[in-house]
Amino acid sequence: MRVLLIGSGGREHALAWAISSSDKCQALYCAPGNAGIESCAELIDIKAEDVDGITDFAKNNQIDLVICGPEAPLVLGLADKIKALGIPVFGPNQAAAQLEGSKGFMKDLCTKYGVPTAAYGRFTDFESAKKFIEEQPHKVVVKTDGLAAGKGVIMCDTKEDAIEAARGMLEGASFGDAGSEVVIEEFLDGEELSYFALADGKGILPLTSAQDHKRAFDNDEGPNTGGMGAYSPAHLMTPEIEAKIIKNIIEPTVKGMNADGIPFTGVLFAGIMVVNGEPKLIEYNIRFGDPECQPIMMRLQSDLLEILYAAAKGELANIQDKVSWSDETTLCVVMAANGYPGSYEKNTVINGLGNAAQTDGVNIFHAGTAKAENGDILSVGGRVLGITAKGHSVQQAQERAYAAIDKIEWNEGFCRRDIGWRAIKAEKEEAA
Ligand code: AMP
Ligand code: GLY
Repeated sequence: MRVLLIGSGGREHALAWAISSSDKCQALYCAPGNAGIESCAELIDIKAEDVDGITDFAKNNQIDLVICGPEAPLVLGLADKIKALGIPVFGPNQAAAQLEGSKGFMKDLCTKYGVPTAAYGRFTDFESAKKFIEEQPHKVVVKTDGLAAGKGVIMCDTKEDAIEAARGMLEGASFGDAGSEVVIEEFLDGEELSYFALADGKGILPLTSAQDHKRAFDNDEGPNTGGMGAYSPAHLMTPEIEAKIIKNIIEPTVKGMNADGIPFTGVLFAGIMVVNGEPKLIEYNIRFGDPECQPIMMRLQSDLLEILYAAAKGELANIQDKVSWSDETTLCVVMAANGYPGSYEKNTVINGLGNAAQTDGVNIFHAGTAKAENGDILSVGGRVLGITAKGHSVQQAQERAYAAIDKIEWNEGFCRRDIGWRAIKAEKEEAA
């Protein structure tokens, strides 16, 4: 199979790593990729959002499968264009991509098909939004309807904060078009986990869980980020909770979208809040999480290419028993450029990666890296590396990841030192 992968992050490096190990992979191209992906794919100089450029490349290079990592090209209609060429594509079409692209769409779908989620209202005018906030008996979260680079979600401690957040979005245009409609919802108090399942336009194939660490600094302090580390499976996942997520959340979503004439193909990444043992949906993403994808790919024991191809072709029913996972835990620690998620320096040199990659049970996935002409690895993004390790316990996986990190020479970067802390605390409590 000749495969084209879209994206340039740590998620895509993990996907490229898994795809390139498949016997069925004859050629792997990645647009635009990064310095790590270069070791397992041929890099193509086309940006992920350049839908026409990607479509032309797929047409002219006998591509058998296109796999899209990030959401933006899907929201722009990449899958529709690739499908029109008769090429299978892993990722939803533009209509189904609304599941992530429009929070209002997602919430209305939940209401229609009985998916448990936070109570909410949708508003385009400020006075009605204000009235709704004033009437709520609980704390609220104010969200832009559209994509706002992960920043369109404001947790509000007081009604005054919520009113100001809604005013900024609806009247101050603080998020541009993304905020011309808002969703105001009930604040859910619980512990979060991420759950992943594939859909092929007909049915589903459940995958596994992970837990992300969104704040920049240790003890979950500092600003929100795209994710500073993740491990899989999530410690609070039990067979009971997983069964509820599949039955009450994933299945009705996919059946409902089929019934509404907008079948979903690709990966459903459900952000779940577990409230008193009951999973509730916070949001859907239409992509693998980054960094959740890195530990998930390290636990997958089956042929990823075969699985993604089956999803793209509508043939998941044929491979239900073929997917197996390692019983071990995997854990990814993100190294980011100093200053991230604010402004940071670029083009600093990272040394010691070869040595670090020799650490037992460790894979280093690149995100914002590029290769200089002299062969140096340079940081070119906010999140730069994902040091991912496998272990018999979360503690062992964490020790291995940090042992590798200690061999990396990069003064201009930082990482959290406590990735997996909730799970390690639970492991210690169980052992005591
Ligand atoms: P989202 O972009 O919708 O994933 O929201 C980002 C983060 O905000 C989530 O990962 C949660 O930590 C938090 N969040 C969003 N909605 C809620 C809610 N209704 N209750 C509590 N936390 C929320
Ligand atoms: N790590 C969360 C995300 O990919 O959105």
